[in-house]
Amino acid sequence: MKTEDKPVVVREFESRDEQDVRRIFSEGMREMVTDTAFRGLRHHPESLLIYLVMTVSGVWISACWWVIVLLPVAILYARYYFSHRVTLSSTKHALKTDMANIERFYTKSPGSCVWVAEVNNQVVGLVAAKQRSHEVVELKRMSVHHRHRCQGVGMALGRKVVEYASTQGFAKVVLGTTNYTPAAHNLYRRLGFQCVGVTNGYTVSAAPGPSLLERLFYRVRHHHYELELEHKEN
Ligand SMILES: CC(C)(COP(=O)(O)OP(=O)(O)OC[C@H]1O[C@@H](n2cnc3c(N)ncnc32)[C@H](O)[C@@H]1OP(=O)(O)O)[C@@H](O)C(=O)NCCC(=O)NCCS
Repeated sequence: MKTEDKPVVVREFESRDEQDVRRIFSEGMREMVTDTAFRGLRHHPESLLIYLVMTVSGVWISACWWVIVLLPVAILYARYYFSHRVTLSSTKHALKTDMANIERFYTKSPGSCVWVAEVNNQVVGLVAAKQRSHEVVELKRMSVHHRHRCQGVGMALGRKVVEYASTQGFAKVVLGTTNYTPAAHNLYRRLGFQCVGVTNGYTVSAAPGPSLLERLFYRVRHHHYELELEHKEN
């Protein structure tokens, strides 16, 4: 169903939205587990090569044919396990920092804000803007409840951030995503963002560096998007 059927209202975050916002954010993050573990696999040929070498070596060392089946299953499980572990740690970190005190981190902080999208007076999505410098604001925490996707909610939230950045006089909106799903990338491109770079790796704040197993089974790519804003001269 499109927005014409159920209008999307985007408004500033209020303290009564806290539970909905934390829930929708956490659910969106949880989707990253399978996205990174399985969808991400075909974007990392170096990982596929390592897994192939592991499987061939396993068969050669053990001389058992069934290792051909067992090892890939174990590898997929390891990818799921580490993806789950890292994503959970990252979600917990966010829920303890900015998402724990949205007012202090965003609404009372200069150049920053959080908005919620409502459909039928129900909170169905969120997005945040955080000032990064005098000229740059970051779009963060974009998430839409799965039952309300493909109805223009993400676009409405994204447009609000762009409009806010423009009225506040920022020159640029930036964002980073480790998503492999086309939904996030298409949404940002539809909003006018351009991918300006891709970096490998990940960071989980407040956690020690990744272990060897994490490096082996959890790999992500960071896509960096930017939108330059035009300010009309008077
Ligand atoms: C990414 C996300 C925010 C999109 O929200 P949404 O409300 O479904 O997006 P919209 O309905 O406004 O769609 C906007 C555009 O995004 C693209 N898009 C949305 N869903 C898509 C899908 N499933 N497949 C391909 N493109 C998709 C389309 O280009 C669409 O425009 P169009 O319908 O005119 O072609 C939503 O899927 C989500 O919350 N995902 C989980 C959390 C997440 O990944 N957040 C992003 C973190 S960086």
